[in-house]
Order: sequence, then structure tokens, then C-alpha cells
Amino acid sequence: MSSLGVSITDPALEARVRVGVREVETQLAAAVDSPEKFVAEAAAHLLNAGGKRFRPLLIMLCAEFGDPAHPDIVPSAVVVELTHLATLYHDDVMDEAAMRRGAPSANARWDNSVAILVGDYLFAQASALVSDLGTDAVRIQARTFSRLVQGQIRETLGPVEGDDALAHYLSVVADKTGSLIATAARFGARMSGASEEIEATLTEFGERIGAAFQLSDDVIDIASETGDSGKTPGTDLREGVPTLPTLIALRSTDPESERLRSLLAKPLTDDDELAEALTLLRAHPAMQEARAYVHAEADAARALLATLPECSAREALQALSDTVATRLG
Ligand code: IPE
Ligand code: IPE
Ligand code: MG
Ligand code: MG
Repeated sequence: MSSLGVSITDPALEARVRVGVREVETQLAAAVDSPEKFVAEAAAHLLNAGGKRFRPLLIMLCAEFGDPAHPDIVPSAVVVELTHLATLYHDDVMDEAAMRRGAPSANARWDNSVAILVGDYLFAQASALVSDLGTDAVRIQARTFSRLVQGQIRETLGPVEGDDALAHYLSVVADKTGSLIATAARFGARMSGASEEIEATLTEFGERIGAAFQLSDDVIDIASETGDSGKTPGTDLREGVPTLPTLIALRSTDPESERLRSLLAKPLTDDDELAEALTLLRAHPAMQEARAYVHAEADAARALLATLPECSAREALQALSDTVATRLG
């Protein structure tokens, strides 16, 4: 089930997850609504455009380690998905992205101010909902958001003198993406009343699989053909944001990669240069190395699940880990 293609072999588990995810959809639609007609339209724009709902799915699976019927589980998934959605509005402003979820980004369809303010509106809606889940949940949400934003800021600033570029990139990935996916896993465990030990294991799993998920997304940004990902391929290169394949290619010293290295040294605002860099990078051994790295990270995340009680939810989480690597093709 789900467009991530996660196979859930236990029909009872699949049915529970389906019901949960459907209820999340209903509550998301209600949360993005507003008496201000324009705000409601602009906030529903990306929600309705698509999205994999990876984080709600993760929450539903992690909630299986406690009582999966606990009433706080669905609202916690709504909070996390709303937070994610808000960051997409803002991220597309930062990345000057024209497409998201196969639709025009909010900044492209309206303008930057609309995209920023609608993102803020969604954060506000998420904050209101999380306040019903207690002060611990509010604290977790605030700390997560703080990490996420600092990751985005560090990405914008780039590495400082003396930083290793790859280490900087990996720390950005952990903060901007690992943080929220870790919180998704934590909320699933916590809201269901799973033990503290299980919550800690699932949080660590979320952190690790979340980072692997971002790494795979960065490989896809280079490898995917136009439209496949619902985003414009090469956006990272155009913006001069170095990612895993680029950083690996930049480490190469062979003379044949000279042209690619010189192209990657700066943002690729020229369309012809961008197309040339994409062609060269797609054929470069750095792509295979990056894929292998993502596979190893997804495997490391999967291995963390070994200490959990054996059950069909654990199996589904293992399958979820595998899809993060296999979606690279
Ligand atoms: C996009 O997240 C941003 C990243 C963290 C890579 P998703 O890949 O989960 O985006 P949607 O929700 O499916 O559109
Ligand atoms: C994803 O940013 C992380 C957040 C939105 C916090 P990216 O810029 O790497 O992701 P895409 O490729 O636009 O989805
Ligand atoms: Mg982006
Ligand atoms: Mg970005």
C-alpha cells in the first residue's frame, strides 16, 4: 500500500493502517481550511497536489508497538504532516523551485510572500493541534522544528572554513529531514503508549531512515527524468546546493572529470551548462557510489529494528527501509 509501495503482508495490519491514514487525510483537510477563502485555497493547493504521506505511514506503523487505537495517534500524524507541508512551502521559496508534487509550487503559482505566509499559517495550525497532545508533545515539536530550521539555515550558509564538505552536508541532512522523521517515529511510539525503550529505538530508527530518505531524494534530483519526481530535476545543481553525488564527484581527481568538476564549482544558472552537468554526472561513477551509500544507510537503519519484538509492524518497517533504497532503481 501507499505510493511508496510498502507491502504490508498482514491484512489486519494493512486495514488498521489504511483506516488511520484515511483519518489523517480527513483531519488534514480540516486543518488547512480557513475562513479566509484565499488562505484556504492556497493552503489546500499542495495538500491536494499529492505527496507520499511517508511520515503518517511511519507513525501508524510505530504506533503498533503500543495501543494502535489510541486517540492521540492520528492528531500527532496530522501535526507532523502539516509541519512537513509547511516546510515545503518555505523550501520552494528558498530553492526557487517551480514545481512541487507535480503542480506549480506556491511561489510559482502566486508569489514568495504568499508561499511564506501560507507556510506560517500551516505551522500555526500544527501548533494549535499539538497543544492538545500535552506539553511534552509541544516541547518535542518545538525542538524538532528548531533543528529543522537550523539545518535549512546551515545548508544556505554552506560549510565554513575548515569544515569537511561531506560532514557538513550529512549534518544538514540529519537536521533538516532526519529530525522530523525521527519525531514521526517517536510520536507513533509515544502516543500509543509503547515502552520507553521501544520509543528510543524507533526514534533512532526514524532519524537514520529519515537521513537515508533525504540522501535518496538527492540522488533522485539528479537521476530522475523530468516530471517523474513531481519536481524539476537538477534543482540542487541550479541552486548550487552540493549533495551526495556532487560531493563524491568533486572528490575525484581523474582528468576525465575535470569538466564536470569545473561546472559543479558554482551554481548552474545557465540552462545549457546545467544540462551538460546533469548528463556528465548521471554517467559518472559518483552516482553508483552515492547509491551504494544510500543502500548502506538504509540497511543500517533496518538493522536497528532487530531489537524490537517480532511482529508484522516490524516487518513492514523493514520493508519501508528497503523501499528507501530501492526507489533509486
Ligand atoms: C520532500 O519530502 C522533502 C524531503 C525531505 C526529501 P517527501 O519526499 O516526503 O515529499 P512528499 O510529501 O512526498 O511530497
Ligand atoms: C527538503 O529540502 C527538506 C525540507 C523541506 C525541510 P530539499 O530542498 O532538499 O527537498 P526537495 O527536493 O525540494 O523536496
Ligand atoms: Mg527543495
Ligand atoms: Mg531545500
